[in-house]
Amino acid sequence: MVARTIPVSPFDLVIFGATGDLSTRKILPGLFQRMKAGQMPQAARIIGAARGDMTRAEFQKIVSGAVEPHMAKGDEKMLKTFLAAIHYARVDAMSDDGWDVLAKIVETDARPVRAFYLSVGPSLFGEIAGRLNKLGLATKESRIVVEKPLGHDLASAQALNAQLSECFDERQIYRIDHYLGKETVQNLMVLRFGNALFEPLWNARHIDHIQITVAESIGVEGRGAYYDKSGAMRDMVQNHLMQLLCLTTMEPPSRYEPNAVRDEKLKVIRALDPVGVRDTVRAQYSSGDNTAGYLVDAENPDSTTASFVALKAEISNWRWAGVPMYLRTGKMLANRVSEIAVIFKDVPHAIFPQVNDQKGNALIIRLQPDEGITLRMTIKEPGPGGLRLAEVPLDMSFAEVLDPAERVPDAYERLIMDVIRGDQTLFMRGDEVEAAWEWVDPILYNWQSLRVTPEAYEPGSQGPRGSDELMSRDGRRWRPIEGV
Ligand code: BG6
Repeated sequence: MVARTIPVSPFDLVIFGATGDLSTRKILPGLFQRMKAGQMPQAARIIGAARGDMTRAEFQKIVSGAVEPHMAKGDEKMLKTFLAAIHYARVDAMSDDGWDVLAKIVETDARPVRAFYLSVGPSLFGEIAGRLNKLGLATKESRIVVEKPLGHDLASAQALNAQLSECFDERQIYRIDHYLGKETVQNLMVLRFGNALFEPLWNARHIDHIQITVAESIGVEGRGAYYDKSGAMRDMVQNHLMQLLCLTTMEPPSRYEPNAVRDEKLKVIRALDPVGVRDTVRAQYSSGDNTAGYLVDAENPDSTTASFVALKAEISNWRWAGVPMYLRTGKMLANRVSEIAVIFKDVPHAIFPQVNDQKGNALIIRLQPDEGITLRMTIKEPGPGGLRLAEVPLDMSFAEVLDPAERVPDAYERLIMDVIRGDQTLFMRGDEVEAAWEWVDPILYNWQSLRVTPEAYEPGSQGPRGSDELMSRDGRRWRPIEGV
């Protein structure tokens, strides 16, 4: 068996925005877990960079506070080792202030791999990248990590890409979409290309349609100011759902290698047809038992931002022409469920005439919670007295078939280690991000110019009525957003 954890080379990871939400919630705890798993070498250094005037010890205290909720019994010694790897530099991204301190830490006793994680707003990407370059902190081998929002439309995404590429080559830029770090999302590729079973059926001849659902049961949770400017289309569809769609429908890459995979994803995005307003639904959650409603949560009583989007997309290529791809995502829905449902066509000829609503097979790939795969099959109901058919699930929960005691690493853990290893396979290339905006922009433009106001939906529901109508018009139905 292949060793589960392969240690990476000693590295210097500089986190800009080190005291912020993403850093303390995901990046620092993730690094701690990797150290615990034996993947992060003790010689590695994590250098926090932020505007706050504090000492190294004060920053270590913040790190300790961020990691503690993730600690198990007996982890105290590991925390000590982890804290010894932590450094701090007070740096102002907008001026030359503090950069000499950072340079001193990084350049005395540098590690073989150097990465800069820009856990800050995109308006600072250009400034920071420029300074890293000007001060010679970024070498030809350094890596830079950035994350959503990567623009709010095509033009701004192009501007961001241009700023980054002034200072870094594409092979040095790691654009995170944390969905690509989720175990089951990677499994999607293994399921498709590691098994001979599905691929012959994976096309318009055999598949009726595909449903991709990312439903959340929480609302905007204190992120109203950011969210209200983006909405579900920019926050989820342009990136996470688009990536899921690509991995589900792309051609087999020739190798599991960064550009081979990303070339195939890009082809899917470029083959997407424009989507007319009639094939879209936008909605906002209203008030309910657990929420005062989107307008209150977003602190904008006049907001027309959508917290739910559903749409029908089509991919114009030989494999998929004529197969609708239904996407939906929303906040405050009945449950937290992310899944990809591949619905196969009915049998070509029904030999059981007494059964009139026999459904086609369906392959459900559950991303969260309870990652796993279900294949809906038709069987004969046991017993005499005529032939009755029943639909049964062939169900596999990954947690059950793999080692149930094995902890599933958070998406960020995997992605940060990939940065250090220099593997870009699970990161978005600049052209992919731009192509996704090119497809999304006209939809947003039409909503705005035609003043498509959001429908209301009940918190805790399956979404707005329009979403069901989008399906029923085509004689289809969404799978229920059900908990497990
Ligand atoms: C983020 C969005 O990218 O993904 C959030 O900005 C959303 O609005 C989150 O809640 C969902 O991620 P996950 O991993 O909880 O499904």
